Amino acid sequence: MCQVFCVLVLSLVVCFPDVPACDLKSPAVGILGTGDFSRSLAHRLLACGLRVIVGSRSPDRNADRFPAGVEVSTQRDAAAQAHVLFVALFPDHYSSLAALKGELAGKVLVDVSNGTTLNRSRPSNAEELAALFPESSVVKGFNVLSAWALLNGPRDGSRQVLICSDDFQAKNRVALLARSMGFVPVDMGCLSSARDIENAPLYLFPSWGSPFLCAVCLFFSFYIYNFFRGVLLPYMVNETLPLVSLVMLALVYLPGLLAAGLQLLRGTKYQHFPCGSTVGYVCASSWPPQLLLCSMHALYSLCLLCASSARYKLLNAAFKQVRLGQESSWMEQDVWRMELYLSFGIVALGVLSFASDVVSSGLGYAALSISTLHTLTFGWNRAFDPGQYEFYLPPTFVLAVLLPCIVLLGRLALALHPESRTWSNPLRHHAPLLHKA
Ligand SMILES: NC(=O)c1ccc[n+]([C@@H]2O[C@H](COP(=O)([O-])OP(=O)(O)OC[C@H]3O[C@@H](n4cnc5c(N)ncnc54)[C@H](OP(=O)(O)O)[C@@H]3O)[C@@H](O)[C@H]2O)c1
Repeated sequence: MCQVFCVLVLSLVVCFPDVPACDLKSPAVGILGTGDFSRSLAHRLLACGLRVIVGSRSPDRNADRFPAGVEVSTQRDAAAQAHVLFVALFPDHYSSLAALKGELAGKVLVDVSNGTTLNRSRPSNAEELAALFPESSVVKGFNVLSAWALLNGPRDGSRQVLICSDDFQAKNRVALLARSMGFVPVDMGCLSSARDIENAPLYLFPSWGSPFLCAVCLFFSFYIYNFFRGVLLPYMVNETLPLVSLVMLALVYLPGLLAAGLQLLRGTKYQHFPCGSTVGYVCASSWPPQLLLCSMHALYSLCLLCASSARYKLLNAAFKQVRLGQESSWMEQDVWRMELYLSFGIVALGVLSFASDVVSSGLGYAALSISTLHTLTFGWNRAFDPGQYEFYLPPTFVLAVLLPCIVLLGRLALALHPESRTWSNPLRHHAPLLHKA
């Protein structure tokens, strides 16, 4: 999975250089198969001014399913006329094309198939197609586009088309075609990368697995802790959400901080950290779950005012006030605390949403500091109230704020350390996790 992630990350960087638009007088582009994908592709190719010939086992029956202007003929005829052919069949049916070997020799075959299950060991569909047609040049591509995206064009959905092939010229030709259709071809290298490309649509949120698992584990740990401390009430969810997010935010910076401490201890920044970069990547990619949890907390807090429990609490407070004969319940200190608490929370959410877009160490630390202040103002003097320690268990916010405080104090100590200041930007050269320190 990590390998797939790295390949996908690299693919975002290694795009094809600008190429001129496709020559409209070029020979027909062929499509084998008349299914959903074939129809959408034919539609798009035609809209780009290209001549399209579709090869079907039953051309007469399928011709009226294509827009006027698309030639629907036999598979043999399409294979003979076109130089670039999209194989829009399921891989199980590739062998049915064996009789066309002669016509397909020297042609470019574009394998658009997707995997149905994650393939980690078998050869890819594209490699199997290449083995069946050794005299053709097989290019893997276009599978990450759905028939819907093709039909609607590049303005709807992803514009990236991942492409790979062992034949450089054939790959460039298909890239040119993709660009002329308004998509962005991304060079994924040799045909051996086809498996990763076929697997790509099967990952719902690539690289989100570990951060989400971490979030779920933290959520249940805090929730169970809350459960033991008090009666199970709905607001516990709202208490738990921000604490998980805060601890995860602190976890992003902890590996970098430990690495930096280790560097200072070793007296050098030129030593390798085993599995350091992996931890750094995993932690850095935990922004989406954090942002999600914080946003849910903000929404939850807003909605809590509408909850019946809030109404009853307010009423009870009013009854008590009447019984005590109080005319004003305004508590200056409490008002200030709540103002600060809300302001820190809102600013922290804003900074966090920026930090998740622009992964920047400064912004991230700002989000961590403000979120910690938000939690501290929530705790205020409650942390020192013995009544809050039910069953001798500290309130959850006290536990949650520990790690962020350690990270922030550690960062401060590091910034003040004389050695770290004499090194030229000492924490930014090696592993990505050091960016975080
Ligand atoms: N649909 C999508 O959104 C999408 C997206 C990305 C990739 N893909 C890939 O595109 C390929 C085609 O998908 P599709 O959705 O277009 O499938 P489909 O609607 O089921 O069409 C498959 C076509 O294969 C042809 N075919 C040729 N030999 C065949 C045989 N022996 N038995 C059955 N059919 C045979 C048939 O056309 P004739 O009867 O005219 O020969 C049939 O229309 C698949 O590999 C899929 O993974 C699809």
